[in-house]
Amino acid sequence: MAEDKIVLTGIQPTGSPHIGNYLGALKTLIEMSQNHKTIMFIADLHALNAEKDAKKIKQHTYEIAASMIAMGLNLENTAFFRQSDIDEIYKMSEFLMNVTPKGLMNRAHSYKARVEKNVEAGEDVDAGVNMGLYTYPVLMAADILLYNSDIVPVGKDQKQHVEFARDIAGYFNNTYGNTLKLPEPVISEDSGYVPGLDGRKMSKSYDNTIPLFAPSNELKKRIMRIITDSKTPEEPKNPDESTIFQIYKCFATDAETAALRKQFLDGGMGYGTAKTILFEKIDSVLSEPRAEYERLMANKSEIDAILADGAKKAGFIASKTIAKVKKKMLG
Ligand code: ADP
Ligand code: TRP
Repeated sequence: MAEDKIVLTGIQPTGSPHIGNYLGALKTLIEMSQNHKTIMFIADLHALNAEKDAKKIKQHTYEIAASMIAMGLNLENTAFFRQSDIDEIYKMSEFLMNVTPKGLMNRAHSYKARVEKNVEAGEDVDAGVNMGLYTYPVLMAADILLYNSDIVPVGKDQKQHVEFARDIAGYFNNTYGNTLKLPEPVISEDSGYVPGLDGRKMSKSYDNTIPLFAPSNELKKRIMRIITDSKTPEEPKNPDESTIFQIYKCFATDAETAALRKQFLDGGMGYGTAKTILFEKIDSVLSEPRAEYERLMANKSEIDAILADGAKKAGFIASKTIAKVKKKMLG
């Protein structure tokens, strides 16, 4: 990816990050921030359609912000901020509402899924749907178009939203003349998922996660809970079917991974030993960032200052875009 491209992404504050979130999403974003100008925000406005507890949104915002900073987000290259701190986002959303066809929103996957669920349950089609959920893609288009971004790296589930942002920019430009930049989605390849303690995809909803920054003793307890088959220590084991090995290889070097693979295949190592090897690896890789995470969480004003600084940088770009948009629409 060309280095002069502006990368933009939002992360919803929906829970404390687990190692699946880190390996599947956050790590790539942190890597991209090392050599790109990056616009990155905690999408707290997007959380509002489902989460009504302000305290939880605030707490999760701090946890995600501290995690990203502790894991090495490049703050020199990045404007890192709370979505809700930029006043222009509310204006941009309102302006874009007026060039967005209602039919486009009807086609949004998340809304359609909700409607299908309602129909199956014999409920009104729009039961439980608020306008925040229905217009979610407009707010996301506002995020993407406000900051002139070139590249929007997202998972497969968000691809349609980025395409909608392009469509909405197209409608705007057709009506008012070329104003908004069309971004490119970069869809992360489906490189498989990180398995959780029970072997299914690690996910908050399955309660099978390993929190990214669990204290050492808690981390050990979680790892010891990983479900295995009943092979004896002597028996050879298949590393590719083992949750322990699958997680280990995400943290270990190639040489370490090859060595553990051999131990699995050769037999002679029990699952208890393999779990201890996994624990020691994760604990040592995460111990420094965990200390930094804990320090930041105990000094939230430091996180606030970083996010405020990011909001200043982002607000500067946003105010220029909004002035152009307002002039085109209202003269
Ligand atoms: P959860 O399933 O715990 O609710 P989210 O759906 O909030 O997690 O996911 C946030 C991000 O983390 C997404 O980009 C998602 O693709 C990534 N992610 C979540 N779980 C995993 C996993 N087990 N393996 C790889 N990536 C994951
Ligand atoms: N909707 C995204 C998610 O749930 C988060 C998000 C909000 C976002 N605004 C964005 C992602 C803009 C990329 C660009 O993961």
